[in-house]
Amino acid sequence: MTHRAQESDTPAAGRAAPAVDVAFTVNAAPARCAVDPRESLLDVLRERLDLTGAKKGCDHGQCGACTVHVDGRRILACLMPAVQARGAEVTTVEGLAEPDGTPHPVQQAFLEQDALQCGYCTPGQIMSAVACLAEGHAGDDDEIREYMSGNLCRCGAYPHIVAAVRQAARPGGRADA
Ligand code: FES
Ligand code: FES
Repeated sequence: MTHRAQESDTPAAGRAAPAVDVAFTVNAAPARCAVDPRESLLDVLRERLDLTGAKKGCDHGQCGACTVHVDGRRILACLMPAVQARGAEVTTVEGLAEPDGTPHPVQQAFLEQDALQCGYCTPGQIMSAVACLAEGHAGDDDEIREYMSGNLCRCGAYPHIVAAVRQAARPGGRADA
């Protein structure tokens, strides 16, 4: 699958800032867009590539709802200009599950631990949790809380979110005994 935005969709059309052609990989598929240099990666993902999993909560780097991975590292997509993603490998929550639909172990743990209420923060929480585990920062609940602290949840689902990360950190992602 190739993600390709139409030239006519570019917000740069009719504006002073010339569009910049950016090619990158999103969820293992090539993507190419002519972007406004001021356009965030979050807006390109959501509005140009129809990948609406990453959410726009604050648009100011304060809530974590827009968390995605760029070259394996978690970033806030609302703060990253899309032009900086040129040549990068971007992964969004849509790219976590197996091709047959089997959820990623972190997604499964969130389901089993009932780690969401409204769900708005959940894609960002899950992307941060995957990174937290990969970074080796899920040794205990305090460490999980610290390294997940950039992701806010207005519903207050934090105890369940910590439980989900704790579960995903166990071999086989098994739940508490
Ligand atoms: S939308 Fe990016 S941190 Fe809130
Ligand atoms: S589940 Fe509602 S904001 Fe987190």
